[in-house]
Amino acid sequence: MLTTINDREFGCFQRFIFEAAGISLSASKKALVCGRLSKRLQQRRLASFGEYFRLLESGRDPAEVQTAIDLLTTNETYFFREPKHFDLLREQARAARSSAGPFRVWSAACSSGEEAYSIAMVLADVLEPHPWEIVASDLSTRVLQRARIGHYPMTRTQHIPQPYLRRFCLKGVGAQDGTLLIERALRSRLSFMQVNLNASLPQLGLFDVIFLRNVMIYFNLETKRQVAARVLGALKPGGYFLIGHSESLNDVSAAVRQIAPSIYCKR
Ligand SMILES: C[S@@+](CC[C@H](N)C(=O)[O-])C[C@H]1O[C@@H](n2cnc3c(N)ncnc32)[C@H](O)[C@@H]1O
Repeated sequence: MLTTINDREFGCFQRFIFEAAGISLSASKKALVCGRLSKRLQQRRLASFGEYFRLLESGRDPAEVQTAIDLLTTNETYFFREPKHFDLLREQARAARSSAGPFRVWSAACSSGEEAYSIAMVLADVLEPHPWEIVASDLSTRVLQRARIGHYPMTRTQHIPQPYLRRFCLKGVGAQDGTLLIERALRSRLSFMQVNLNASLPQLGLFDVIFLRNVMIYFNLETKRQVAARVLGALKPGGYFLIGHSESLNDVSAAVRQIAPSIYCKR
């Protein structure tokens, strides 16, 4: 297996993922890129990172371009990450019970689905029979496939509140021991789709709450501004915009005002 990538080859992959996803990889990510791609080179029987880059660039294999994007994105996530966001969601959902029309939430970089299913559990609990909709999107098709299936190792589910575990999750038995499946009725309520936040967005309608958490950390300031402007265009005035706790919208957008760390409201 190849264990080194030279500076020129690394530069090619920096450019590739910036153009494809808006992700800025600093020089410190060289070992990470090498580690993530070297197995793929072996699978494709390619002798160098340069050869792999030329394959991606050639336009001959669009599926391989998606595979490389999947390998170069970071998909770390878990259920009920940042509980304050779910307290806010609960409050907003309660307040929406008397409003007209469905309560709409977008999980805009949903990774393998844990964020979107956490949102769905809260809405099913608090809002029903009032209608609600969740759009869950990501650039990586590999994580979206896992999200649609909704099958997770039990070790990753410890933050799901007990009543929700009982109501919305099926515990694996036999060969599925140690796993958990989101029950079909809840799964069928979500729309998963591929959306690149670094390109013009499809028509998704307007949302009451948008989760855009732990993705802008990978973007430079200019890309953050462009992505925030695009995504905020899909938020209702007075709607809530939630970002990761290590992220900030300082210098990024004046379209929202900060309510609390990582919680913003559209003006
Ligand atoms: C660290 S995960 C965050 C998951 C979840 N929002 C959370 O906070 O737990 C970041 C996700 O952003 C996605 N991503 C990166 N660039 C993207 C882009 N340009 N468009 C859409 N999704 C992107 C990655 O595929 C990855 O699944």
